[in-house]
Amino acid sequence: MQTLIFATGNPHKVEEVNQVLSDAWDLHSMAEWGITEDLPENQDTLEGNALEKARYVYEKLKLDCFAEDTGLEVEALHGEPGVYTARYAGDSKDPNANIQKVLDKLAGAGNRRARFRTVIALIIKGEEFLFEGIAPGTIQMEKSGNGGFGYDPIFRPEGYLVSFAEMDAATKNRISHRGQAVRKLIAFLEERASKTLH
Ligand code: IMP
Repeated sequence: MQTLIFATGNPHKVEEVNQVLSDAWDLHSMAEWGITEDLPENQDTLEGNALEKARYVYEKLKLDCFAEDTGLEVEALHGEPGVYTARYAGDSKDPNANIQKVLDKLAGAGNRRARFRTVIALIIKGEEFLFEGIAPGTIQMEKSGNGGFGYDPIFRPEGYLVSFAEMDAATKNRISHRGQAVRKLIAFLEERASKTLH
Protein backbone atom coordinates (compact mmCIF):
# COMPACT_ATOMS: atom_id res chain seq x y z
CA MET A 1 0.00 0.00 0.00
CA GLN A 2 1.18 3.51 -0.79
CA THR A 3 0.33 6.34 1.55
CA LEU A 4 -1.48 9.28 -0.04
CA ILE A 5 -2.73 12.46 1.64
CA PHE A 6 -5.77 14.45 0.51
CA ALA A 7 -4.84 18.08 1.27
CA THR A 8 -8.26 19.29 2.37
CA GLY A 9 -9.85 20.27 5.67
CA ASN A 10 -13.09 18.56 4.64
CA PRO A 11 -13.32 14.95 5.96
CA HIS A 12 -16.37 14.24 3.74
CA LYS A 13 -14.30 14.79 0.61
CA VAL A 14 -11.65 12.35 1.91
CA GLU A 15 -14.28 9.72 2.64
CA GLU A 16 -15.83 10.18 -0.81
CA VAL A 17 -12.52 9.49 -2.59
CA ASN A 18 -11.61 6.66 -0.21
CA GLN A 19 -14.77 4.81 -1.19
CA VAL A 20 -13.69 4.54 -4.81
CA LEU A 21 -9.95 4.06 -4.37
CA SER A 22 -8.53 0.53 -4.38
CA ASP A 23 -6.51 -1.04 -1.55
CA ALA A 24 -3.29 -0.22 -3.38
CA TRP A 25 -3.58 3.27 -1.89
CA ASP A 26 -3.77 4.13 1.79
CA LEU A 27 -5.61 7.47 1.80
CA HIS A 28 -5.46 9.85 4.77
CA SER A 29 -6.68 13.34 5.58
CA MET A 30 -4.00 15.93 6.33
CA ALA A 31 -5.49 16.33 9.82
CA GLU A 32 -4.47 12.74 10.60
CA TRP A 33 -0.89 13.90 9.97
CA GLY A 34 -1.22 16.99 12.16
CA ILE A 35 -2.03 19.66 9.56
CA THR A 36 -5.10 21.46 10.84
CA GLU A 37 -4.46 25.02 9.68
CA ASP A 38 -6.13 26.58 6.62
CA LEU A 39 -4.04 25.91 3.52
CA PRO A 40 -2.62 28.87 1.56
CA GLU A 41 -4.67 29.90 -1.51
CA ASN A 42 -2.93 33.05 -2.76
CA GLN A 43 -2.80 32.40 -6.51
CA ASP A 44 -5.00 33.89 -9.22
CA THR A 45 -5.88 30.63 -10.96
CA LEU A 46 -7.50 27.37 -9.84
CA GLU A 47 -4.38 25.51 -11.05
CA GLY A 48 -2.15 27.83 -9.00
CA ASN A 49 -4.22 27.39 -5.84
CA ALA A 50 -4.47 23.59 -6.17
CA LEU A 51 -0.69 23.40 -6.65
CA GLU A 52 -0.01 25.82 -3.81
CA LYS A 53 -2.07 23.71 -1.40
CA ALA A 54 -0.54 20.40 -2.54
CA ARG A 55 3.01 21.81 -2.36
CA TYR A 56 2.41 23.15 1.15
CA VAL A 57 1.40 19.71 2.41
CA TYR A 58 4.11 17.90 0.42
CA GLU A 59 6.80 20.17 1.85
CA LYS A 60 5.58 19.62 5.40
CA LEU A 61 5.05 15.86 5.30
CA LYS A 62 7.20 14.71 2.38
CA LEU A 63 4.36 12.35 1.51
CA ASP A 64 2.52 11.95 -1.80
CA CYS A 65 -0.56 14.15 -1.76
CA PHE A 66 -3.19 15.96 -3.80
CA ALA A 67 -5.34 19.08 -3.41
CA GLU A 68 -8.29 20.47 -5.37
CA ASP A 69 -9.73 23.87 -6.17
CA THR A 70 -13.10 24.61 -7.72
CA GLY A 71 -14.56 27.71 -9.33
CA LEU A 72 -17.75 28.84 -11.06
CA GLU A 73 -16.90 30.60 -14.35
CA VAL A 74 -19.65 32.78 -15.85
CA GLU A 75 -19.15 33.74 -19.50
CA ALA A 76 -20.85 37.16 -19.39
CA LEU A 77 -18.79 38.01 -16.28
CA HIS A 78 -15.52 37.19 -18.05
CA GLY A 79 -14.95 34.07 -15.96
CA GLU A 80 -15.98 35.54 -12.59
CA PRO A 81 -16.29 34.49 -9.80
CA GLY A 82 -13.60 31.98 -10.84
CA VAL A 83 -10.87 31.74 -8.27
CA TYR A 84 -12.95 33.92 -5.90
CA THR A 85 -15.97 31.60 -5.99
CA ALA A 86 -16.06 30.82 -2.25
CA ARG A 87 -15.69 34.47 -1.13
CA TYR A 88 -17.36 36.28 -4.08
CA ALA A 89 -19.64 38.38 -1.84
CA GLY A 90 -17.20 38.66 1.09
CA ASP A 91 -15.00 36.75 3.51
CA SER A 92 -17.98 35.26 5.35
CA LYS A 93 -18.33 32.87 2.36
CA ASP A 94 -22.11 33.10 2.61
CA PRO A 95 -23.62 30.99 -0.21
CA ASN A 96 -26.85 33.02 -0.37
CA ALA A 97 -24.96 36.30 -0.69
CA ASN A 98 -22.73 34.74 -3.36
CA ILE A 99 -25.75 33.56 -5.32
CA GLN A 100 -27.43 36.96 -5.05
CA LYS A 101 -24.31 38.69 -6.34
CA VAL A 102 -24.20 36.47 -9.42
CA LEU A 103 -27.94 36.96 -10.07
CA ASP A 104 -27.61 40.76 -9.66
CA LYS A 105 -24.62 40.98 -11.98
CA LEU A 106 -26.41 38.89 -14.60
CA ALA A 107 -29.66 40.90 -14.48
CA GLY A 108 -30.59 41.68 -18.07
CA ALA A 109 -27.78 39.58 -19.54
CA GLY A 110 -28.68 37.58 -22.64
CA ASN A 111 -25.89 35.08 -22.21
CA ARG A 112 -26.23 33.06 -19.00
CA ARG A 113 -23.74 30.35 -19.90
CA ALA A 114 -21.42 29.21 -17.12
CA ARG A 115 -19.38 26.24 -16.02
CA PHE A 116 -18.00 24.71 -12.89
CA ARG A 117 -14.34 23.76 -13.13
CA THR A 118 -12.34 21.64 -10.69
CA VAL A 119 -8.58 21.30 -10.81
CA ILE A 120 -6.76 18.61 -8.83
CA ALA A 121 -3.00 18.89 -8.29
CA LEU A 122 -1.22 15.64 -7.42
CA ILE A 123 2.38 15.36 -6.22
CA ILE A 124 4.03 11.94 -6.33
CA LYS A 125 7.67 11.73 -5.30
CA GLY A 126 8.10 15.41 -6.15
CA GLU A 127 6.53 15.09 -9.62
CA GLU A 128 3.42 17.24 -10.25
CA PHE A 129 0.30 16.29 -12.22
CA LEU A 130 -2.94 18.22 -12.93
CA PHE A 131 -6.43 16.83 -13.57
CA GLU A 132 -9.43 18.90 -14.68
CA GLY A 133 -13.17 18.36 -14.59
CA ILE A 134 -15.70 20.68 -16.25
CA ALA A 135 -19.49 20.82 -15.93
CA PRO A 136 -21.02 23.20 -18.50
CA GLY A 137 -24.44 24.76 -17.91
CA THR A 138 -26.38 27.98 -17.37
CA ILE A 139 -27.25 30.29 -14.49
CA GLN A 140 -30.98 30.15 -13.80
CA MET A 141 -33.07 33.30 -13.35
CA GLU A 142 -33.79 32.22 -9.78
CA LYS A 143 -32.98 29.55 -7.21
CA SER A 144 -34.59 26.11 -7.23
CA GLY A 145 -34.08 22.99 -5.11
CA ASN A 146 -32.80 22.28 -1.62
CA GLY A 147 -30.02 19.76 -2.21
CA GLY A 148 -26.28 20.23 -2.71
CA PHE A 149 -24.42 23.31 -1.52
CA GLY A 150 -22.84 26.57 -2.68
CA TYR A 151 -24.18 27.76 -6.02
CA ASP A 152 -26.12 24.55 -6.74
CA PRO A 153 -29.60 26.18 -6.56
CA ILE A 154 -28.84 28.49 -9.54
CA PHE A 155 -26.69 26.17 -11.68
CA ARG A 156 -28.48 24.13 -14.34
CA PRO A 157 -26.16 21.61 -15.97
CA GLU A 158 -26.29 21.27 -19.75
CA GLY A 159 -28.82 18.68 -20.96
CA TYR A 160 -30.99 18.85 -17.82
CA LEU A 161 -34.12 20.79 -16.92
CA VAL A 162 -33.32 21.08 -13.21
CA SER A 163 -30.60 22.69 -11.10
CA PHE A 164 -27.82 20.77 -9.32
CA ALA A 165 -29.77 21.41 -6.09
CA GLU A 166 -32.73 19.43 -7.48
CA MET A 167 -30.63 16.34 -8.28
CA ASP A 168 -29.80 13.42 -6.02
CA ALA A 169 -26.15 13.20 -5.02
CA ALA A 170 -25.39 10.21 -7.28
CA THR A 171 -26.72 11.96 -10.40
CA LYS A 172 -24.83 15.15 -9.62
CA ASN A 173 -21.64 13.22 -8.92
CA ARG A 174 -21.90 11.42 -12.28
CA ILE A 175 -21.86 14.68 -14.26
CA SER A 176 -20.21 17.15 -11.91
CA HIS A 177 -16.87 18.90 -12.34
CA ARG A 178 -15.53 17.37 -9.11
CA GLY A 179 -16.77 13.88 -10.01
CA GLN A 180 -15.02 14.04 -13.38
CA ALA A 181 -11.74 15.36 -11.96
CA VAL A 182 -11.72 12.74 -9.20
CA ARG A 183 -12.37 9.93 -11.69
CA LYS A 184 -9.41 11.12 -13.79
CA LEU A 185 -7.22 11.21 -10.69
CA ILE A 186 -8.30 7.73 -9.66
CA ALA A 187 -7.73 6.24 -13.12
CA PHE A 188 -4.21 7.69 -13.03
CA LEU A 189 -3.51 6.39 -9.51
CA GLU A 190 -4.78 2.88 -10.29
CA GLU A 191 -2.73 2.72 -13.48
CA ARG A 192 0.32 3.85 -11.54
CA ALA A 193 -0.29 1.29 -8.76
CA SER A 194 -0.64 -1.55 -11.29
CA LYS A 195 2.66 -0.56 -12.92
CA THR A 196 4.40 -0.47 -9.53
CA LEU A 197 3.10 -3.92 -8.67
CA HIS A 198 3.97 -5.64 -11.95
P1 IMP B 1 -13.94 24.33 -3.06
O1 IMP B 1 -12.75 24.56 -3.93
O2 IMP B 1 -14.49 22.93 -3.16
O3 IMP B 1 -13.76 24.78 -1.64
O4 IMP B 1 -15.10 25.24 -3.65
C1 IMP B 1 -15.02 26.64 -3.72
C2 IMP B 1 -16.40 27.22 -3.75
O5 IMP B 1 -17.03 26.82 -4.97
C3 IMP B 1 -17.31 26.72 -2.65
O6 IMP B 1 -17.29 27.54 -1.56
C4 IMP B 1 -18.66 26.69 -3.29
O7 IMP B 1 -19.29 27.91 -3.10
C5 IMP B 1 -18.37 26.53 -4.76
N1 IMP B 1 -18.60 25.17 -5.22
C6 IMP B 1 -17.66 24.20 -5.38
N2 IMP B 1 -18.22 23.08 -5.85
C7 IMP B 1 -19.53 23.35 -5.98
C8 IMP B 1 -20.62 22.57 -6.40
O8 IMP B 1 -20.52 21.39 -6.75
N3 IMP B 1 -21.82 23.19 -6.41
C9 IMP B 1 -21.99 24.47 -6.03
N4 IMP B 1 -21.01 25.23 -5.60
C10 IMP B 1 -19.79 24.68 -5.58
